[in-house]
Amino acid sequence: MGLADGPTVLITGANSGIGFETSRELARRSARVLMVARDRERGERALSDVTGVAERSAAPSPELLIADLTDPEQVQFLIDTIRARHSRISVLVNNAGGYFAHRATTEEGFERTWALNVVAPIRLTLGLLDLLTESAPARVINVASHAHTAGRLDMDDLQMANGTYRGFLQYARAKSALILWTDALARRTNPQSVSAVSVHPGWINTGFGAANRGSAAAAMFRFFTTLFAAPAAKGARPIVELVDRPPVGDPPGDVVTGEYFLKTRRQLPAAHARDRRVADLLWELGLTYKL
Ligand SMILES: NC(=O)c1ccc[n+]([C@@H]2O[C@H](COP(=O)([O-])OP(=O)(O)OC[C@H]3O[C@@H](n4cnc5c(N)ncnc54)[C@H](OP(=O)(O)O)[C@@H]3O)[C@@H](O)[C@H]2O)c1
Repeated sequence: MGLADGPTVLITGANSGIGFETSRELARRSARVLMVARDRERGERALSDVTGVAERSAAPSPELLIADLTDPEQVQFLIDTIRARHSRISVLVNNAGGYFAHRATTEEGFERTWALNVVAPIRLTLGLLDLLTESAPARVINVASHAHTAGRLDMDDLQMANGTYRGFLQYARAKSALILWTDALARRTNPQSVSAVSVHPGWINTGFGAANRGSAAAAMFRFFTTLFAAPAAKGARPIVELVDRPPVGDPPGDVVTGEYFLKTRRQLPAAHARDRRVADLLWELGLTYKL
């Protein structure tokens, strides 16, 4: 594992923000990048840029895959396409994510923050787990957020259907769930085969939250983000570094499976995101999401 081996890296949300910059940097460092985007036009635009980077660094050509990750049929098609075209995936980066100021549900019936930040990465990971295992040593990198510290899960109301919906709180809870599920996954896979980590990429100036119209809280967040957050390329660094870290079991300084990284530093997540009883409940729930 590591960038020196020219890994194949599958990354979601690859057309913009942190996912796009991560794709560029991985291509620059000779990885083969499989870019998942939900919109073909935006995806093609990003692909064309990353293809240029890959050509300049003599990296394998990147590939574009289209899927709305909140649509189970499209996720199944994505999984089938990857399996048909690729015999190895060394790294899966579940990067696509978002915050929604107003509550809505997907056609399948999930609250959309939960659908995008929790159900989608679980489905994709479980759907590709045997391919990752065959590609050992492989790694799953789940892009979480420091915001999780503000979101203790309410196991009786994961979809925030009761009472007033609060978008940031639901986002924070969803990222807590992703950190917990990453730990649960790590305890169920042989780390020499598939390791799993979660990471907060930093406060980064991207399109994050920009689609929320008519929300004062979202507008304020955007305002401060454009003023103070770091450029998107900085958000790619922790992810690229995790792609490049040696497999578990190599010399000190390597990744320990199940860990959470605050940018490039390993850190304990908030206590509520370390509760293994909750993690195991989420694991069981996640199995019901499997396609
Ligand atoms: N920016 C920050 O400060 C920050 C901090 C902590 C964590 N994060 C996390 O970092 C990750 C990347 O976010 P970002 O900041 O780069 O935001 P972004 O620029 O909004 O990128 C989000 C990506 O996810 C894709 N996406 C959204 N809904 C999707 C769906 N239903 N199906 C497939 N793809 C979908 C978006 O595609 P479209 O272009 O089609 O919308 C976009 O490519 C997220 O998980 C976010 O929670 C960000």
